[in-house]
Amino acid sequence: MAPSSSSAASTFLQKPQTSPLARRSSSALLLRPRPRHNLVPLCRRQAVQELPAVDAAAGRTDCFGVFCTTYDLRADEETKSWKKLVNVAVSGAAGMISNHLLFKLASGEVFGPDQPIALKLLGSERSFQALEGVAMELEDSLYPLLREVSIGIDPYEVFQDVEWALLIGAKPRGPGMERADLLDINGQIFAQQGKALNAVASRNVKVLVVGNPCNTNALICLKNAPDIPAENFHALTRLDENRAKCQLALKAGVFYDKISNMTIWGNHSTTQVPDFLNARIDGKPAKEVIRDTKWLEEEFTKTIQKRGGVLIQKWGRSSAASTAVSIVDAIRSLVTPTPEGDWFSSGVYTNGNPYGIAEDIVFSMPCRSKGDGDYELVKDVKIDEFLWERIKKSEDELLAEKRCVAHLTGEVRLQ
Ligand code: LMR
Repeated sequence: MAPSSSSAASTFLQKPQTSPLARRSSSALLLRPRPRHNLVPLCRRQAVQELPAVDAAAGRTDCFGVFCTTYDLRADEETKSWKKLVNVAVSGAAGMISNHLLFKLASGEVFGPDQPIALKLLGSERSFQALEGVAMELEDSLYPLLREVSIGIDPYEVFQDVEWALLIGAKPRGPGMERADLLDINGQIFAQQGKALNAVASRNVKVLVVGNPCNTNALICLKNAPDIPAENFHALTRLDENRAKCQLALKAGVFYDKISNMTIWGNHSTTQVPDFLNARIDGKPAKEVIRDTKWLEEEFTKTIQKRGGVLIQKWGRSSAASTAVSIVDAIRSLVTPTPEGDWFSSGVYTNGNPYGIAEDIVFSMPCRSKGDGDYELVKDVKIDEFLWERIKKSEDELLAEKRCVAHLTGEVRLQ
């Protein structure tokens, strides 16, 4: 829990009407005095806006509705063998992605059918009623594995003891916007959430950043959480991997379960590099199955790079269901052993990487896991000139983004 300040009381906001369904702390909406930022480098169009930081000391996040009833996992032990409860925080919990994701988490499809789960839902003051609505739907779904649900707007409370933090909440990209436009706006959210994780989460929490620009948000988050291992932070590029698998399958005329070894290199942006050189189709190198090199280099690469933007044009909003599915895939890749010879893509912290990619950024690379929540980099993937040239562009973009958020990663101290 963050330090308390009774003098902060004068800055508190009025709390909204509380639904009788939600037993939450009456002081859940109290605000922490804002830090002062004098010198803020502007990298894109938006000026940095200060977020109202929430007063951690002021209240508690309480259980929701039926999840406040007591239960005893041991009572079921004659018929079931339960694992220890896993605590999962989800930010942006009232949003579209979460609306798909939470029900998958509660169903057991992510952590397994013998894994009871506690969901800790983080929303904003504005979304609080919607958050209650989500919690009500979770109640009504009667999931046997869902043992606790709590809702709140203070990351210092919601992240208490969490073992997984799925950071989805951020201002989404609208039509015509680049992900980098969101740097200033969203970076501050992730700085605050990094601090909160550092203060109250499990020391081995695994953090998956989804809110865009997710690589740099993950970097901001990990820099603000110095007591949590940097390798525990991921930026979601699994959606890009899934999109790439689908397009290769379509071109090769096979079902997409035949595609393996699909790496996305770099940033989750239009500079990302879907690696057709190392991808395999039914065990064979993709280039042996798809002989059309021009298609691979041009159309395939562009389609994956721009898929998110095209979806925004079609929907008028960001992808939600497929993003939720890819979050499930990303978690499952860490909690189940990677099949022999295969790998998955994740945006991870570069710290002694074998590919000569700049250190101290979050870069998508091929990873493997033993299923224990950790991963190791796949070290012997070949990179040709075509790939390398593009990997460098994505690296340049991430280094530029990093410079833009130096005030949030602690590299530039503000007066
Ligand atoms: C996506 O790739 O669909 C999302 O990250 C949305 C976006 O901003 O492109």
